[in-house]
Amino acid sequence: MRRLHLGKHTFEIRFLESPADMAAVEDVQRAVWPGSEADVVPSHLLITLAHNGGVVLGAWHQESGRLAGFVYGFPGMVETPAGWQFKHCSHQLGVRPEYRGLGLSFHLKRAQWQWVRHQGLPLITWTYDPLLSRNAHLNIRKLGAVCRTYLREVYGEMRDGLNAGLPSDRFQVELWVAAPRVLRRLEREPPSPLDLAHYLSAGAHILNPSAQGEGGFPVPVEPASPAEGEVVLVEIPSDFQALRGVDRDLAFRWRMHTRALFETLFAQGYWVTDFVYLPEPWPRSFYVLSHGEAQLG
Ligand SMILES: CC(C)(COP(=O)(O)OP(=O)(O)OC[C@H]1O[C@@H](n2cnc3c(N)ncnc32)[C@H](O)[C@@H]1OP(=O)(O)O)[C@@H](O)C(=O)NCCC(=O)NCCS
Repeated sequence: MRRLHLGKHTFEIRFLESPADMAAVEDVQRAVWPGSEADVVPSHLLITLAHNGGVVLGAWHQESGRLAGFVYGFPGMVETPAGWQFKHCSHQLGVRPEYRGLGLSFHLKRAQWQWVRHQGLPLITWTYDPLLSRNAHLNIRKLGAVCRTYLREVYGEMRDGLNAGLPSDRFQVELWVAAPRVLRRLEREPPSPLDLAHYLSAGAHILNPSAQGEGGFPVPVEPASPAEGEVVLVEIPSDFQALRGVDRDLAFRWRMHTRALFETLFAQGYWVTDFVYLPEPWPRSFYVLSHGEAQLG
């Protein structure tokens, strides 16, 4: 369907439908979310959703013949004041560790967006852990999703190696298929991104600037400042997976700290509309939240 050259690699992104395709998706799941065979979504379910209006897309690494990553979703419904409306519900996106950092996830999500647009659905939603900076960079900044919904412990106790041991809180993000902010990012040249200095010079405050902990990891400082103004910033750790691997208690504090902050901000009418990742001089990550509903433009 689509050939891509990323670094020294060539990938082909195409629809997955056959039992052999789906067995390859099962294998990528084992590599991305190791440690719980019970959580591997099986071929028969993937085939059923691919044959019934859903879409499973895979990126095949041409040099090795291996499946490097996949994304899948299915049609769903959302209740709105105007009644029930159709949407696409995206459920899993994964890239094998050895093919990360090449931008493959962006191309998989863009192919998914193209398919959903072709089907005529207005909205794609999915969930992700709001403490994962790399995912936030992809979902909010690169794809143009927005968020106003915080879900507590949505998947109960998770068993896989990436998620076990912490409450499974998630952002539910919305990608409005034909919104100007999405078209700019996915159809044309992406806009030049706003960095932290832009937001600070426009008067935005960081509500929770973190402190440096003894282990070199950021520590949340309580209490966060109350939100004022049109735009506010919320800091998260830049490498939460490394932090939780070393200090479970600190990871739990970050979960509770950001849960309280985001729930309060969403109740006040703020939406997540941008994300800033600063790799230098030391990595720091910030969500940008804007007040009101004007941010789809
Ligand atoms: C999340 C995931 C799909 C991303 O895949 P990927 O194809 O490697 O992502 P990318 O190649 O776009 O990552 C590189 C980008 O992340 C940025 N990045 C790297 N580290 C980062 C960090 N700590 N914080 C924010 N951004 C970061 C890079 O600067 C680069 O940005 P650019 O493309 O604007 O130059 C992959 O890491 C994965 O499978 N994770 C486990 C499963 C998962 O979390 N699934 C997604 C649920 S939404």
